[in-house]
Amino acid sequence: MKFYIKTFGCQMNVHDTRRIEEILVKAGHQPTQESREAQLAMVNSCTIRQKPWHKAISETGRLRKGKLKGSGENLLVGLVGCVAQQEGENVFDLLSHVDFVVSPDNYAQLPQIIDDLIRQKKHIAVTGFSEGNAEDFLSIEHVSENEVSAFVTIMKGCQERCRYCIVPTVRGPERHRGAEQILNEIRHVVSLGVREITLLGQKVNAWQEGERRFFDLLMEIDKVAGLERLRFTSPHPRHMTPEVIDCFGQLRTLCEAIHLPVQAGANTTLKRMGRRYTREDYLNIVERLRKARPDISISTDLIIGYPGETEDDFRETLSLIEEVGFSSAFSFKFSPRPFTPAEKLNDDVPEDVKSARLAAVHELVNAQETAFRNGLRNSELEILVEGEGRMKSQLSGRARNHQIVNFVSAHPLSQMIGKLITVRVTDIHPNSLEGEIV
Ligand code: 5AD
Ligand code: SF4
Repeated sequence: MKFYIKTFGCQMNVHDTRRIEEILVKAGHQPTQESREAQLAMVNSCTIRQKPWHKAISETGRLRKGKLKGSGENLLVGLVGCVAQQEGENVFDLLSHVDFVVSPDNYAQLPQIIDDLIRQKKHIAVTGFSEGNAEDFLSIEHVSENEVSAFVTIMKGCQERCRYCIVPTVRGPERHRGAEQILNEIRHVVSLGVREITLLGQKVNAWQEGERRFFDLLMEIDKVAGLERLRFTSPHPRHMTPEVIDCFGQLRTLCEAIHLPVQAGANTTLKRMGRRYTREDYLNIVERLRKARPDISISTDLIIGYPGETEDDFRETLSLIEEVGFSSAFSFKFSPRPFTPAEKLNDDVPEDVKSARLAAVHELVNAQETAFRNGLRNSELEILVEGEGRMKSQLSGRARNHQIVNFVSAHPLSQMIGKLITVRVTDIHPNSLEGEIV
């Protein structure tokens, strides 16, 4: 069968889509980029805010139209990802054109589910959480020729229970993957040409296995021969221990960039969110990170207009952004989610106030981002060559600080892919930098 997957959401979803592809290809199915060609179409979506939830639902509608017009009644439409876990069988009442629902911990069963659908042609919903045993973590089997960067899952789920967040409900309790399995997967993908690894987990730095902590794991991964760069996402400030911070100054591969969600700048808001750290704790972590690695770039997530957020509270978010000087930030208005304590709070910040606050945050963050990027002009950056560039005759790569850099290369991509080169930044564009090889 030809299958098509539309993915919305975080890096974890992107990673999951790749694993689904591997599972289906192994079972004899073929991927296609064209939904019209597919006999099997899936939407893999996140539900962290209401908007992606809506997007997922309307995408299944678009696929249904394709079902009526193009591939005929034989098209199977499925909903997978966090939305699938959230809605379960309810989806069939809500959306009569959806044939199956499979949540993230059950993707290994997809070939069987598809066979059953073909034979019995009735709705199937498979949801719920795995134990978190070795076989419950789907390993990367193949990497494509141009893949020099890969994600490796080190934990599933989250039980931090920040009061606004649906993740603990849809991704389940925390299950930590064994270090040996993580290291084996990294060695495997490095042997296939991968040079950069990003460790994935909802609360990635809370990882532990017996006495082994997250920093021990970082130190072991750092020794993997052939690995050039290491990143992780997303850490929780509460687990940024001194040992993890020290790794930024000590480990060869650990890149000088961290995405450290803060969510808000006022202690009252942080407390009501259940974040379990203070503004001062966060600023202290930032100070220590900068001491360990003065050139580290720090990005963050922010929730704007959380219930009870006063004008003064909001000003504290702005002042925290100023104090840290984030290189970028993802900021979203608070979105009440089912099964969360915050859903029951009075969503009392009016929509127009939320919009105005969000606009103010965007303006400040954009100014900081521009300043950060302008500060890179004339600097020399180490680039991992990843693909074709913005213009003809250019290639592109990523700097350790995550910036995309395009540069003219005398050699084709096939000779340059996965190489580390040094470029001097000559120009700053809205979404990328331009440089020349030094
Ligand atoms: N409303 C708005 N943003 C949210 N996030 C999580 N839950 C919500 C919500 N209910 C944001 C947080 C988190 C990121 C992944 O999504 O900022 O860090
Ligand atoms: Fe959600 Fe908080 Fe867990 Fe992050 S740490 S996934 S925000 S509950």
